[in-house]
Amino acid sequence: MGNLQDISGADKTRIVELIDSYSDRKWPLIPLLQDIQEACGYIPPQAINLIARGTGLFPAQVQGVITFYEQLYTTPRGKKIVRVCRGTACHVRGGKTILKLVKQQLGLEEGETSPDLEYTLETVACIGVCALAPNIVIGKDTHGTMNPKKVAQLFGERKEGV
Ligand code: FES
Repeated sequence: MGNLQDISGADKTRIVELIDSYSDRKWPLIPLLQDIQEACGYIPPQAINLIARGTGLFPAQVQGVITFYEQLYTTPRGKKIVRVCRGTACHVRGGKTILKLVKQQLGLEEGETSPDLEYTLETVACIGVCALAPNIVIGKDTHGTMNPKKVAQLFGERKEGV
Protein backbone atom coordinates (compact mmCIF):
# COMPACT_ATOMS: atom_id res chain seq x y z
CA MET A 1 0.00 0.00 0.00
CA GLY A 2 1.39 3.43 -0.91
CA ASN A 3 1.33 6.47 1.30
CA LEU A 4 -0.59 9.71 1.26
CA GLN A 5 2.20 11.48 -0.61
CA ASP A 6 1.00 9.60 -3.71
CA ILE A 7 -2.33 11.44 -3.65
CA SER A 8 -2.69 14.89 -5.16
CA GLY A 9 -2.40 17.75 -2.66
CA ALA A 10 -6.03 18.82 -3.03
CA ASP A 11 -7.32 15.28 -2.52
CA LYS A 12 -5.07 14.74 0.48
CA THR A 13 -6.27 17.95 2.15
CA ARG A 14 -9.89 17.09 1.49
CA ILE A 15 -9.50 13.53 2.84
CA VAL A 16 -7.87 14.74 6.05
CA GLU A 17 -10.63 17.37 6.50
CA LEU A 18 -13.34 14.80 5.94
CA ILE A 19 -11.83 12.33 8.40
CA ASP A 20 -11.64 15.13 10.98
CA SER A 21 -15.24 16.15 10.31
CA TYR A 22 -16.38 12.62 11.12
CA SER A 23 -14.30 12.20 14.27
CA ASP A 24 -17.28 12.71 16.64
CA ARG A 25 -19.73 10.56 14.73
CA LYS A 26 -20.85 7.08 15.59
CA TRP A 27 -20.53 4.55 12.76
CA PRO A 28 -18.84 7.06 10.45
CA LEU A 29 -17.21 4.66 8.02
CA ILE A 30 -19.71 4.35 5.18
CA PRO A 31 -20.77 8.02 5.00
CA LEU A 32 -17.09 9.00 5.29
CA LEU A 33 -16.14 6.70 2.42
CA GLN A 34 -19.01 8.06 0.34
CA ASP A 35 -17.90 11.63 1.01
CA ILE A 36 -14.29 10.86 0.14
CA GLN A 37 -15.42 9.21 -3.08
CA GLU A 38 -17.62 12.21 -3.88
CA ALA A 39 -14.71 14.58 -3.26
CA CYS A 40 -11.98 12.64 -5.08
CA GLY A 41 -14.04 10.64 -7.60
CA TYR A 42 -12.80 7.44 -5.91
CA ILE A 43 -11.25 6.27 -2.66
CA PRO A 44 -7.49 6.42 -3.07
CA PRO A 45 -6.08 3.13 -1.73
CA GLN A 46 -3.25 5.12 -0.16
CA ALA A 47 -5.82 6.75 2.15
CA ILE A 48 -7.07 3.49 3.66
CA ASN A 49 -4.57 3.45 6.55
CA LEU A 50 -5.50 7.01 7.44
CA ILE A 51 -9.22 6.27 7.24
CA ALA A 52 -8.69 3.22 9.45
CA ARG A 53 -6.82 5.26 12.04
CA GLY A 54 -9.46 7.99 11.97
CA THR A 55 -12.31 5.55 12.50
CA GLY A 56 -10.60 3.20 14.96
CA LEU A 57 -10.70 0.25 12.59
CA PHE A 58 -8.12 -2.03 11.02
CA PRO A 59 -7.17 -1.22 7.40
CA ALA A 60 -8.46 -4.67 6.39
CA GLN A 61 -11.88 -3.78 7.81
CA VAL A 62 -11.98 -0.56 5.78
CA GLN A 63 -10.88 -2.45 2.68
CA GLY A 64 -13.52 -5.10 3.38
CA VAL A 65 -16.30 -2.52 3.46
CA ILE A 66 -15.08 -0.93 0.23
CA THR A 67 -14.97 -4.33 -1.45
CA PHE A 68 -18.46 -5.20 -0.18
CA TYR A 69 -20.19 -2.09 -1.52
CA GLU A 70 -20.31 -2.12 -5.30
CA GLN A 71 -20.76 1.63 -5.43
CA LEU A 72 -17.42 2.30 -3.70
CA TYR A 73 -14.30 2.38 -5.90
CA THR A 74 -10.57 2.43 -5.27
CA THR A 75 -9.65 3.32 -8.84
CA PRO A 76 -10.37 6.65 -10.52
CA ARG A 77 -13.64 6.85 -12.42
CA GLY A 78 -14.69 9.09 -15.26
CA LYS A 79 -16.74 12.24 -14.71
CA LYS A 80 -19.36 10.69 -16.94
CA ILE A 81 -20.33 7.07 -16.36
CA VAL A 82 -21.68 5.57 -19.58
CA ARG A 83 -23.83 2.49 -19.06
CA VAL A 84 -25.00 0.47 -22.01
CA CYS A 85 -28.02 -1.72 -21.25
CA ARG A 86 -27.42 -5.40 -21.89
CA GLY A 87 -30.94 -6.49 -20.86
CA THR A 88 -32.90 -8.77 -23.18
CA ALA A 89 -35.08 -6.11 -24.83
CA CYS A 90 -32.10 -3.91 -25.57
CA HIS A 91 -30.07 -6.90 -26.73
CA VAL A 92 -32.66 -8.04 -29.29
CA ARG A 93 -33.02 -4.48 -30.58
CA GLY A 94 -29.35 -4.04 -31.37
CA GLY A 95 -27.82 -3.32 -27.97
CA LYS A 96 -24.75 -5.35 -28.86
CA THR A 97 -24.04 -3.12 -31.86
CA ILE A 98 -24.65 -0.02 -29.76
CA LEU A 99 -22.12 -1.26 -27.20
CA LYS A 100 -19.60 -1.95 -29.95
CA LEU A 101 -20.05 1.56 -31.37
CA VAL A 102 -19.80 3.22 -27.97
CA LYS A 103 -16.60 1.25 -27.31
CA GLN A 104 -15.20 2.48 -30.61
CA GLN A 105 -16.20 6.08 -30.01
CA LEU A 106 -14.74 6.19 -26.52
CA GLY A 107 -11.81 3.88 -27.22
CA LEU A 108 -12.72 1.96 -24.07
CA GLU A 109 -13.63 -1.58 -23.13
CA GLU A 110 -16.17 -2.39 -20.44
CA GLY A 111 -14.99 -1.35 -17.02
CA GLU A 112 -12.35 1.02 -18.39
CA THR A 113 -11.91 4.72 -17.71
CA SER A 114 -10.43 7.14 -20.20
CA PRO A 115 -6.97 8.50 -19.26
CA ASP A 116 -8.41 12.04 -19.10
CA LEU A 117 -10.96 10.75 -16.55
CA GLU A 118 -13.88 11.98 -18.67
CA TYR A 119 -15.61 8.64 -19.23
CA THR A 120 -16.04 5.24 -17.63
CA LEU A 121 -17.79 2.60 -19.70
CA GLU A 122 -19.97 -0.06 -18.09
CA THR A 123 -22.85 -2.32 -19.00
CA VAL A 124 -25.95 -2.76 -16.87
CA ALA A 125 -28.84 -5.15 -16.62
CA CYS A 126 -32.29 -3.90 -17.68
CA ILE A 127 -32.86 -0.33 -16.53
CA GLY A 128 -36.64 -0.61 -16.77
CA VAL A 129 -37.40 1.37 -19.91
CA CYS A 130 -37.49 -1.52 -22.36
CA ALA A 131 -40.08 0.23 -24.57
CA LEU A 132 -37.30 2.61 -25.61
CA ALA A 133 -34.72 -0.12 -26.26
CA PRO A 134 -31.89 -0.03 -26.99
CA ASN A 135 -30.90 2.30 -24.18
CA ILE A 136 -27.78 3.83 -22.80
CA VAL A 137 -27.40 5.95 -19.68
CA ILE A 138 -24.88 8.76 -19.39
CA GLY A 139 -24.61 10.00 -15.84
CA LYS A 140 -28.24 10.34 -14.80
CA ASP A 141 -29.65 10.78 -18.31
CA THR A 142 -31.20 7.91 -20.22
CA HIS A 143 -30.91 7.96 -24.00
CA GLY A 144 -33.46 5.68 -25.65
CA THR A 145 -34.02 4.23 -29.14
CA MET A 146 -30.30 4.39 -29.74
CA ASN A 147 -28.94 3.88 -33.22
CA PRO A 148 -25.52 4.39 -34.81
CA LYS A 149 -26.32 7.99 -35.73
CA LYS A 150 -27.33 8.86 -32.17
CA VAL A 151 -24.17 7.24 -30.81
CA ALA A 152 -22.12 9.35 -33.21
CA GLN A 153 -24.01 12.47 -32.13
CA LEU A 154 -23.47 11.73 -28.45
CA PHE A 155 -19.79 10.88 -28.68
CA GLY A 156 -18.64 12.04 -32.11
CA GLU A 157 -17.33 15.30 -30.78
CA ARG A 158 -15.13 13.40 -28.38
CA LYS A 159 -13.63 11.22 -31.09
CA GLU A 160 -12.70 14.28 -33.14
CA GLY A 161 -11.22 15.87 -30.05
CA VAL A 162 -8.97 12.90 -29.20
S1 FES B 1 -33.59 -4.42 -21.44
FE1 FES B 1 -32.73 -2.47 -21.65
S2 FES B 1 -34.13 -1.24 -20.61
FE2 FES B 1 -34.95 -3.20 -20.34
